[in-house]
Parts: sequence; structure tokens; C-alpha cells
Amino acid sequence: MNYFSKNIKTDYGIDAPGIRLGMVLIALLGMVLLTLIKLLPPLWSDQAPYLFVFFKSLGSLAFFYGTLMASYMTWGSKVGKLRTRDQLLDSAGNLLKWTDISTAVDVGCGRGLMLCGAAKLVSNGRVIGFDIWSKKDQSQNHAEATLKNALSENVLERVQVETADARDLPLESGSVDLVMSHWVVHNIESQEEQNKALAEMWRVLRPGGVLLLADIANVNQYQAYFEELGAKNTSFNDGGVEARLMGFLSGGTYVPQTLVLQRA
Ligand SMILES: C[S@@+](CC[C@H](N)C(=O)[O-])C[C@H]1O[C@@H](n2cnc3c(N)ncnc32)[C@H](O)[C@@H]1O
Repeated sequence: MNYFSKNIKTDYGIDAPGIRLGMVLIALLGMVLLTLIKLLPPLWSDQAPYLFVFFKSLGSLAFFYGTLMASYMTWGSKVGKLRTRDQLLDSAGNLLKWTDISTAVDVGCGRGLMLCGAAKLVSNGRVIGFDIWSKKDQSQNHAEATLKNALSENVLERVQVETADARDLPLESGSVDLVMSHWVVHNIESQEEQNKALAEMWRVLRPGGVLLLADIANVNQYQAYFEELGAKNTSFNDGGVEARLMGFLSGGTYVPQTLVLQRA
């Protein structure tokens, strides 16, 4: 990588690119169906009116649903998650002083959304990003892309990137001031395995340290998990109308919510 290139643009990638492509295909299929209906002779709609209405509704539904979901996923990756990041970092600033942070970590950092955001605020410390670089979960996901973003955000000297699984973080217990994780835990297959990742985040956090967690599913379960361990100053954001609407449209698989808490 040419670290001296002047024109590097920050790009935090597209989350779940395969699912977004699926939504684009659904929209295209809807469009094809609507076009085919238009091309058929008008007699057809008179002879089979129910079939006509059925295929027209199906085509319209597929077109609007696919377009809406693909657009929302693009907006979420390009705009929405930067907004969530800023809200989460603001909350952290209410619970600890940025100048007191010596180590912050971004678990499942991908291309460095939380990593770079925190590195702009941590003036004396370092921020470490851990990831397994799954390209299914984020487009063009690799450590080099993360370092490029750190360079373009002007925080390269405070950032470190390592390959590690969220369930086995190469850090000493109680050694971290701030743990962040954005849209990662739901990617881990079972609740038991997800709990291992949560346990690791808790283990590495020092007493008084802060955890910032955002995900598209199960955030209330994560809250219950940490409260049982004795978390304090917990604040759960249920995502409001946006999360309810997207939850409804996605059959409950996409409910963006956040959690902020502090280790007692
Ligand atoms: C949807 S992306 C989000 C990336 C980044 N946090 C963001 O918000 O832009 C999910 C990330 O979690 C990572 N990931 C998935 N399972 C993981 C695991 N078991 N350990 C560490 N990272 C994991 C993926 O490689 C991917 O980078």
C-alpha cells in the first residue's frame, strides 16, 4: 500500500454486501415482471383478471421492497452508522475522559468505523482493532483497507490492527479503558458463541471502563447479560421508529439498537 498517496478517501464499506445485492435483484425481478405484464396483449388482463392483479401486485411489491431495503442498507452503511458512531462516542465522553484513555479496542472493527472515530478523540492512547476480515459481513474487508481509512482520517499513528476472533481477544484481563463493537456480535452463529464474545469484552474491560455496543439484533439480550455481571450506568437505545419499521420490514432480522454501559 502506498501510505504516501495524497488522495485516499475514507470508505467504511458496505455491510452485508450479499444481502444488499439480493435486495437489488428482488427490485430488478419486480421490474422485469411489471415490464412483462405491460408487454402482454391487453386481452390477457380481461381473460384472467385475478392472475393479472396478482402478478402486477407481486411485481410492484418486489420492486418497492427491494428498492427500499437496498437503499436503506446503502444509507445505513454510508450515513446511518456514522451517526450512530458519533452518538456512541458522545455517550462514552459522558462516562470517562478521553485524555485518560490509554487503550481502546474495536472488536470486529471491519474497515475502522469505531476505531478511527475513537482514535480522533484518544489523544494520549492507542486504539486497537480486531477482526477476522469476513468479506460476507463487509465489502472489501481487510486490514489494509482499515489502515487506509486510518491514514485518511489522520489517526494512523494511534491505530493498531490485528487479526483475532471476538471470542478470544489477545489482551490481558482488565487492561482496556474502552471497548467498542459495532454490528458484529449477530454475525456469530449461536447465542452460546455470542455470549463468549460478550464475555471477552467484559473480561478485558477494566473496572470503570466503558463498553459501547451496537447491533442489528438481540441488543436487549446483551444488556441483560451484562447487567447480570454487574454492569452500571447502562443505557439502552431501542432505535425508535426506525428500528421498529426496519424490524417489521425485515421480519425481525434488522433492528438497529445500541447499548452503553460501564464496568463496576
Ligand atoms: C457488518 S461488519 C461491521 C464492521 C465495522 N464494525 C463497522 O461497523 O463498519 C461486521 C464485522 O464483524 C467481523 N466479525 C464477524 N465475526 C467475527 C468474529 N467472530 N470475530 C471478530 N470479528 C468478527 C467481520 O469480519 C466484519 O468486519
